Amino acid sequence: MTRLSNHEAFDLSGRTAVVTGAGRGLGRAIAQRLAEAGAHVTCADIDPATADDTAALITSAGGAAVGRTLDVTRAADVEAVVAEVVADHGHLDVMVNNAAIINDTTVLDTTEADLDRIMAVNFKGVFFGCQAAGRAMVTQRSGSIINLASGAIDIPTPGLICYSAAKVAVAQLTRTLATELGPDQVRVNAIAPGWIDTPMNERHVLAADGSVDPDKKRDYVAVRSRLSVMGIPGEPDDIAFAALYLASPAARFVTGIVMRPNGGSTMPI
Ligand SMILES: NC(=O)c1ccc[n+]([C@@H]2O[C@H](COP(=O)([O-])OP(=O)(O)OC[C@H]3O[C@@H](n4cnc5c(N)ncnc54)[C@H](O)[C@@H]3O)[C@@H](O)[C@H]2O)c1
Repeated sequence: MTRLSNHEAFDLSGRTAVVTGAGRGLGRAIAQRLAEAGAHVTCADIDPATADDTAALITSAGGAAVGRTLDVTRAADVEAVVAEVVADHGHLDVMVNNAAIINDTTVLDTTEADLDRIMAVNFKGVFFGCQAAGRAMVTQRSGSIINLASGAIDIPTPGLICYSAAKVAVAQLTRTLATELGPDQVRVNAIAPGWIDTPMNERHVLAADGSVDPDKKRDYVAVRSRLSVMGIPGEPDDIAFAALYLASPAARFVTGIVMRPNGGSTMPI
């Protein structure tokens, strides 16, 4: 193997990436970091305005990006985004299946509609992303697929069954696909983040009018920070750097892992 400099090992120049759920939160941070490393990033989200906003943030910082609308529950949407990248650039190098939703129902309170919706977005959406990207990457015999799981795969949490069950399925999809695509030089890994302050988690700190209550938010962040053995909250870049590593040449021998950037919060202590 040619010895790479540190810069070369994390350089994504000439590479392409798709990030689903790139309109805000972790998806936005991941898209920005991949672009900063040189990748052309397709920022895909169900919300067209936020997808375009992320792409605009990247291009105004000197990077290359486009915003695209997709609903990951629709295989045809995901396939179209991947096909466009391959048609325009000749290759898809990085696929980040990040889009997800959450709900807070107990097993006994969950409706069939709740279950179907979260499985459709959080599991089938990732599955479709793996299929579309995997087919393109097998053809080119290279690529990195990164799926977002969650610390919820390790800790049973009351009221989080739909979300955590879908994420466990994502972890097993990741490992299974790594075994299936390894011979074709396609790597497949998951990231299981700890608690990060993103819009997804603001549902716990809303005022009566639906806006974020800053006092509630400060108290909630303090409580969640104590989940980490370090006593600090995670930030979107903590996850974006993990994605950058898994996307990069530095991780050429890394496949089938579930990386846990979570401040030690899921260690069995
Ligand atoms: N924030 C955390 O603490 C945390 C912890 C563990 C795992 N995660 C995972 O990280 C990922 C990102 O989380 P986040 O906190 O940034 O969430 P978020 O809710 O802030 O952002 C999710 C994005 O996904 C988009 N999206 C939702 N449904 C979609 C669909 N059907 N098709 C396309 N896009 C869709 C939303 O519009 C939004 O832009 C998710 O997979 C989440 O489960 C987050």
